[in-house]
Amino acid sequence: MSKVTVVGAGNVGATCANVLLNNKIADEVVLLDIKEGVSEGKTMDMMQSAALLGADTRMVGVTNDYSATKGSDVVVITSGIPRKPGMTREELIGVNAGIVKSVTDNVLANSPEAVIICVSNPMDTMTYLIHRESGLPKNRIIGMGGALDSSRFKYFLSVALGANINEVEGMVIGGHGDTTMIPLKRLATYKGVPVSSLLDAEALDKVVADTMVGGATLTKFLGTSAWYAPGAGAATVAKAVLHDEKRIIPCSALLDGEYGEKDLCIGVPCLLGKGGIEKIIELDLNAEEKELFAKSAAAVHKTNAAL
Ligand code: NAI
Ligand code: 2OP
Repeated sequence: MSKVTVVGAGNVGATCANVLLNNKIADEVVLLDIKEGVSEGKTMDMMQSAALLGADTRMVGVTNDYSATKGSDVVVITSGIPRKPGMTREELIGVNAGIVKSVTDNVLANSPEAVIICVSNPMDTMTYLIHRESGLPKNRIIGMGGALDSSRFKYFLSVALGANINEVEGMVIGGHGDTTMIPLKRLATYKGVPVSSLLDAEALDKVVADTMVGGATLTKFLGTSAWYAPGAGAATVAKAVLHDEKRIIPCSALLDGEYGEKDLCIGVPCLLGKGGIEKIIELDLNAEEKELFAKSAAAVHKTNAAL
């Protein structure tokens, strides 16, 4: 029996729950929100799609009733306010820190063994806050950002290459911010061939730039931040843990000397399995990439200082 709780039944949380349900990723999903009736209503709507789509996950929607979340294997935290057009993720810190802190306390009181996946922004700082507040072993707290940013990178690469998105490989590390993320263009490939030999420098730099502002572009279109890919990103990380997949997915992890950094959470390739982050993979970065990573880490430290 596997059980996942998703806290926050807004755009990202509800989408994540829907992916978990319709892809039969967990046996039981609990969707929780502070707003009266929202989780109950969205859960009923999703469960009414189950007969159409063949899903048989049990799903429960609750208003702030943490007793229903008891014994969760994985908890995804999406509660908090999203960015509006023109806002950075960092501007959300004041409101979201209070929410994430109280949610974490409630979650752990009921599921002391859970692996926590943090989605709320500014995600690297919220993930760090959960570490500080909970004192959990570092493998059990995962920040979701790199999964989404890497998917966006693959999308823009596939468009530039005219390629099937599933035949493109690419990874984004560093902070989950418009200026802090690092799409690793040197390591991106199409069917094993480096994309740097298939796209000219200008086209590749445009892919990198589009990826970095990928979230802001969607926020401008939608009036709020995106949810389909973020929800799928959170569900993908949850699946890697629940199914002990041993997949390598870039996630925000607490560093203790890896990449020359410590005492912060930032995106690095992580081997994910039942234990959460089972290993941090240290890539052999070149001098330019190392410099970008150090700058990104400095920016994340600066945001953390506002906690
Ligand atoms: P939303 O506004 O649609 O949903 C947030 C939900 O959280 C609301 O339903 C609200 O009632 C609920 N909530 C607020 N306080 C709560 C509490 N104390 N307990 C339980 N629920 C509570 O926002 P959306 O678009 O779903 O975004 C959620 C968060 O995820 C935002 O902070 C956003 O910036 C972040 N995000 C992060 C991404 C990432 O890659 N890490 C990607 C996209 C969004
Ligand atoms: C996104 O990347 C805002 O973090 C959110 O869409």
